[in-house]
Amino acid sequence: MLFICGQQGKSVINAFNEFRMGQKSDEKKELLWQSRFSEPFDEDALRFSSSVEVDCALYKEDIQGSIAHVTMLSEENIISSDDAEKIIAGLKEIEKEFDAGQVPLDWREEDIHTVIENRLKEKIGAVAGKVHSGRSRNDQVATDTRLYMRRQIDALTLALENMNDTLLKKAEEHVDTIILGYTHLQRAQPILLSHYYMAYLEMFSRDIERVQDLRKRVNRSPLGAAAFAGSSLPVNTRRTAALLGFDDIFSNSIDAISDRDILIEFASACSIIMMHLSRFSEDLILWTTEEFKFLELKDAFATGSSIMPQKKNADIAELVRGKTGRVYGDLIALLTIMKGLPLSYNRDMQEDKPPLFDAAKTAIESVNIFNKLLQNTVVNKARLKSVTENDLSLATEIAEYLVGKDVPFRDAHRITGKLVSFSLQTGTPLPKISLEDYQKFSPVFESDIYDSLTPESSVRRKKSAGSTSPESVQMQLERQKGKKQK
Ligand code: ARG
Repeated sequence: MLFICGQQGKSVINAFNEFRMGQKSDEKKELLWQSRFSEPFDEDALRFSSSVEVDCALYKEDIQGSIAHVTMLSEENIISSDDAEKIIAGLKEIEKEFDAGQVPLDWREEDIHTVIENRLKEKIGAVAGKVHSGRSRNDQVATDTRLYMRRQIDALTLALENMNDTLLKKAEEHVDTIILGYTHLQRAQPILLSHYYMAYLEMFSRDIERVQDLRKRVNRSPLGAAAFAGSSLPVNTRRTAALLGFDDIFSNSIDAISDRDILIEFASACSIIMMHLSRFSEDLILWTTEEFKFLELKDAFATGSSIMPQKKNADIAELVRGKTGRVYGDLIALLTIMKGLPLSYNRDMQEDKPPLFDAAKTAIESVNIFNKLLQNTVVNKARLKSVTENDLSLATEIAEYLVGKDVPFRDAHRITGKLVSFSLQTGTPLPKISLEDYQKFSPVFESDIYDSLTPESSVRRKKSAGSTSPESVQMQLERQKGKKQK
């Protein structure tokens, strides 16, 4: 046995892949295309071109596609129903063997399609060869990839929905917690913490919309396009599409097997998700530092240092931020693989799978782990209170107070700027400056100025749509909850 692929074999693959795939078995493996050649394919060339260790991840989709194809072949009398039954029974057995991690794989079988066909032949004999009537590996691999992507899109959507559930809970828990908001990473204005969480919820909601929109384009069947020109056999492409749960079929067989734009869109959607997560990670990393101290990580999600015993690090957030770079790399790899290819199929396209699989796995795992990380953060309310009170971030309130007294905004800004400088020079926080002093900067100041100079009033006074006021954030919450119920 060379290595194992399947549910139970997954960890085995990761650990021993290279080692085991590098070994040779004594058995002679048959390639699907060798009959026109008089010499066997060079071993090193085969080792270089084999994709078994990567595309074995598609065994379920490959078997699912073959079962649909064979069902259609027998319905259209292209093969007998007896043969179809034998093939389907054999394929189902092979799937179980894969699930149990019992299928030995040899890189010399070239790809997962060959592995399964050879295995089928071992089980049911020459009739196995009928599985490929009216089909090519080109439409076969395009079908497998679409089925795979559909599954990954569903998993990603679920992961993002779970993340949004956590954000909704956090937002509800912190409807009246006030935090400092930043621009340019400088203290800017007080905001509700719920407003902050809802901002990410909006981003992840768009991420869900993006992958769901892509799902429509993914869910079209390329099966029946054959090599690229179609087949002279009466293959019923609509029937295989329906059996596989596709909504539609291709319109052009060349396009069906040669484009990989949906993979690029998927990697792009994953990159955007990772970018959102990476920014969120950055906030979390900063906020858990001694300097900010807005959040604390529960021990289950904090890491220590091997030398500095006091350290409590946010490694999980750092890893999510780091993995973002890898997913961007996957996107660039896919774009670059495709950019110079003449129509139609080219073997370069086999290189689409490592970046596709990596982008899907990394994005799904990152969303799931970040969701858990978020649940393991504790807000330091006392610290938030002490940093927001008396802070210069209330300065915009003074400017808007003056505008309310009919002072042109430019003048209001200038007057407030001077007050800020006075506050810094005298070491007097803005709410502690006397009315007499306020009036030295503008006669319009009255004692009601102090009503605006608390973080609570700053937040409460916001009136514009989508703002940080409690009513506005409540509306944002209700809107998202309403969407969830639909
Ligand atoms: N491993 C190949 C790929 O992923 C399968 C299709 C092979 N087709 C061919 N004409 N050699 O692209």
